[in-house]
Amino acid sequence: MKIPFFDMKAELAAVRGDVDRAIARVLDSGVFIGGPEVEGFERALAAACGARFAVGMSSGTDALLALGMELGWRHGSEVVTTPLTFFATVGAVVRLGATPVFVDIDDERLTLDPDAAQAACGALTAAVLPVHLFGLPAAIPAVACPVVEDAAQSIGAAPLRGVAAALSFFPTKNLGAVGDAGAVLTDDESLADCLTLVRSHGARPRYHHVTLGGNFRLDAIQAAVLAAKLPHLDAWTAARRAHAARYRVAFASASLDEVRLPPDDPAHVYHQFVIRTPARDALRAHLAAAGIGTEIYYPSPLHLAPALESVPYRAGSCPRAERACAEVLALPIHPALSPDAPALIVESIRSFFRGVGG
Ligand SMILES: Cc1ncc(COP(=O)(O)O)c(C=O)c1O
Repeated sequence: MKIPFFDMKAELAAVRGDVDRAIARVLDSGVFIGGPEVEGFERALAAACGARFAVGMSSGTDALLALGMELGWRHGSEVVTTPLTFFATVGAVVRLGATPVFVDIDDERLTLDPDAAQAACGALTAAVLPVHLFGLPAAIPAVACPVVEDAAQSIGAAPLRGVAAALSFFPTKNLGAVGDAGAVLTDDESLADCLTLVRSHGARPRYHHVTLGGNFRLDAIQAAVLAAKLPHLDAWTAARRAHAARYRVAFASASLDEVRLPPDDPAHVYHQFVIRTPARDALRAHLAAAGIGTEIYYPSPLHLAPALESVPYRAGSCPRAERACAEVLALPIHPALSPDAPALIVESIRSFFRGVGG
């Protein structure tokens, strides 16, 4: 048995003709930066996500950075966020000189604890930055400062609730480009306008730099590929949810008390299907020996990252996130996965625990 964690070629095969035609169209047009492909994708994305505006960006990382630049994350300000996320979330805060304030996670959802986030807000707070981890919407705390959503993993899971949401189209995301790409969703017209300025060195008109920016632009080729794939997103999300349902059925009949499943929330878009078990490392080795690919998101919480050691946290500061990092294991759930795979994988997990625990 060989079940890879992700199968990029199989996923692309389903839309290969449309993607090839989209790339050829851009090559024939000779317009590679900005232009109708980017504008067309932005309109389609905003409509698909129920937001007034979508601003294409070079990556999810740059979407967060541009938002932070616009919303005044700087020396002396704080951004309240979760330690259980990809580094880009916190990197955007620290690169702008602001201080990340880590609060612990909700133990069930693995997302920012909204009460703890609210309690951590004060006079210096520039934003709260929840992450819809693995495709499950985080609760949004009731706070006076702007809420910026890191929706890199959660396209389609929930309508926009903060001032803006950052999306990533990294190739393995639920909507993936053929390289790096991202976007910001917002209902705020002036924020959308400022972001289009910031993503192009703050220049308007050309070579007249009215604000500090960078090169955070979405390529025309990536926009055309994403526009070709966007109409399939709902079907791919449905496929992910169907795999999740198969996992749940298989786990229920295996009656494994040792394994915790992710919350059964209808909004979940299952960017990842993440189980928890204290026997994670041994289980992962067992599955690898059986040819089943898994991943760990994430092996350590960001409040303990060496790159952030100037921020005063230590082991024990966020105990729920720390425990989660020792227990989480992501199982294969990409849309091209065989419908038989969840039952086979759960059978292998069952045989592991039967062998270990009797
Ligand atoms: C939670 C989270 N935030 C931000 C990012 C950054 O996105 P990108 O890789 O497109 O820069 C990612 C993805 O990789 C992510 O998973």
